[in-house]
Amino acid sequence: MTEAGVALRLQNIRRAFGDLTVIDNLSLDIVAGEFLAILGPSGCGKSTLLRIVAGLTPPDSGTLQITPPDLRFQNAFVFQEAHLLPWRTVLENAALPLELMGVDAAERTARARATLAEVGLADAESRYPAQLSGGMRMRVSLARALVTKPRLLLLDEPFAALDEITRFRLDVRLRDLWIERGMTVIFVTHSITEAAFLADRAVVLTRRGCGVKLDRRLDLPRARDNDLRLSPQLAVEMQALLGAMEEEG
Ligand SMILES: Nc1ncnc2c1ncn2[C@@H]1O[C@H](COP(=O)(O)OP(=O)(O)O)[C@@H](O)[C@H]1O
Ligand SMILES: [Mg+2]
Repeated sequence: MTEAGVALRLQNIRRAFGDLTVIDNLSLDIVAGEFLAILGPSGCGKSTLLRIVAGLTPPDSGTLQITPPDLRFQNAFVFQEAHLLPWRTVLENAALPLELMGVDAAERTARARATLAEVGLADAESRYPAQLSGGMRMRVSLARALVTKPRLLLLDEPFAALDEITRFRLDVRLRDLWIERGMTVIFVTHSITEAAFLADRAVVLTRRGCGVKLDRRLDLPRARDNDLRLSPQLAVEMQALLGAMEEEG
């Protein structure tokens, strides 16, 4: 598979804002092609950690090693807000990263179209963001992230503002996309349900200092659909994550 995911090794990462130590001596190994959920209470440092992994902000100390460390390495970031350009159509929004990379117009249109089809937006390419529902806007945001075929996809509570049914649909689509593409995914959330449903491994962070409270491999099928949501297997995993979230610290 040419677009396989990258592996990451974080060692002794530390990050403070003034007197506030947000991440303190955090080490984490992420296997190539893994779907990892990072869970933790609001303000515990999840977004800061993701920004460090994305290279958007440097750690104060510690190292981040990416394998393979080649120049073709690409990552993509999806935020809670879709951040679309309102004066551009869906197609033009999805094609934006290719435009910035200098890909010619015909090729970027073809690639953006193909990616929009993958997120279920084939019929909406000429619409503008204001004409879309919240779920559709998030699909465009996802397409824009996927259009470059990233080998690492970072998502920071992407579906948190959506209604539950929309969120369920996007969870299933994201999981399928991950299976199809083989990229490494790091999904940050404060939702136990969503972490358990989506991931193969869940890391629960401590309230302060971003320590690892629980690092658990989830014993669930590879392909996931809504039937899994009410299954006893999912309940077992959610129970384990809930236990760690409820622990003091
Ligand atoms: N640029 C910044 N300057 C100062 N404090 C910050 C900055 N970014 C985050 N923080 C603080 O660091 C802590 C962790 O923030 P964040 O990583 O956003 O947590 P989470 O995503 O888990 O809610 C919070 O207390 C937040 O106020
Ligand atoms: Mg955050």
